[in-house]
Amino acid sequence: MARPRVLSGIQPTADSFHLGNYLGAVRQWVTLQETHDAYYCVVDLHAITVPTEPDALRRRSRVAAAQLFAAGLDPERSTVFVQSHVREHTELAWILICLTGMGEAARMTQFKDKSAKYGESAASVGLFTYPILQAADILLYQADSVPVGADQKQHLELTRDLGQRFNHRFGETFTLPEPYILKEVEKITDLQDPSAKMSKSSSSPAGILDVLEQPGPLRKKVMRAVTDTGSEVLFDEENKPGISNLLRIQSALTGTPIPELVARYDGQGYGTFKKDVAEAVVEAFTPIRERTEKLLSDEAELDRMLAIGARRASEVARRTMEMVRDRVGFLSA
Ligand code: TYM
Repeated sequence: MARPRVLSGIQPTADSFHLGNYLGAVRQWVTLQETHDAYYCVVDLHAITVPTEPDALRRRSRVAAAQLFAAGLDPERSTVFVQSHVREHTELAWILICLTGMGEAARMTQFKDKSAKYGESAASVGLFTYPILQAADILLYQADSVPVGADQKQHLELTRDLGQRFNHRFGETFTLPEPYILKEVEKITDLQDPSAKMSKSSSSPAGILDVLEQPGPLRKKVMRAVTDTGSEVLFDEENKPGISNLLRIQSALTGTPIPELVARYDGQGYGTFKKDVAEAVVEAFTPIRERTEKLLSDEAELDRMLAIGARRASEVARRTMEMVRDRVGFLSA
């Protein structure tokens, strides 16, 4: 039997992924390539929904791809590609845009959050249609499963709604995808503001742990992470959101269950605990940073790897679009 298919994407909007991206998504991508037919894309079309400088976009797209390979995606087992290389993404997005209600798109909370930053009338129409392009990314590959963090839940619901609507109107065409979200790591929070998710757009530098950051600053940020009143290392989301976040991080990185960590640090205070969290982060990130630097030192080879990914992805996308065009009623050329 064919393996189930998995697809996910990540934006090239920063010079490094952060711990939230890594624990919430990328680590699962690496695991899922063992059991799934895996497609992962660097979503540069999504990146330009906010003003983006061309050279920065080029650099960040390569840095993103390099980090994916460095984190463990194997080009033999996973199809890693750049979204804009596969033209069908924008084509399907247009068709889905025509199936989406204005009110339905207006309900997307990420648009509301992001547009608030620019002022709703200054925000681009692209930002408004962002989740529909994401739905196209997923439906195009007939993905069964989409590994993401909790912030993408609403976009996945829209994806299922649009897939279902198309199937209903034009005949069975798309697989309806299930979100793949691991509860323990679905929302890693900002080290300086444990009520907010760690995010490249809204966190202050002190609140984000970047995968490509050097050990010195990483350690400093963990040691300075906001902690809660008291001195006991306890998992208590309500009263100790800062410590709870660090426990989740430590547990995910070391594979030690949280109750075991709580028992280990009993009576030791925050200092010892934070030092160990910092070491776990440095240990996880250092090899990824070193491999990323190596991959980036040979751009031609990296571009070649992405060209192979684009070819493989295009084949799947082309097949889906042939069917879609016919169902919608477009004449064949
Ligand atoms: P992006 O680039 O913002 O984030 C990439 C992935 O990282 C997850 N993530 C987090 N998980 C846990 N805690 C956090 N603090 C945290 N911050 C980010 C995100 O949930 C995401 O899985 N719209 C998507 C990109 C996209 C996509 C797709 C995803 C475009 N097309 C198709 C899946 C399928 C986004 O902006 O991700």
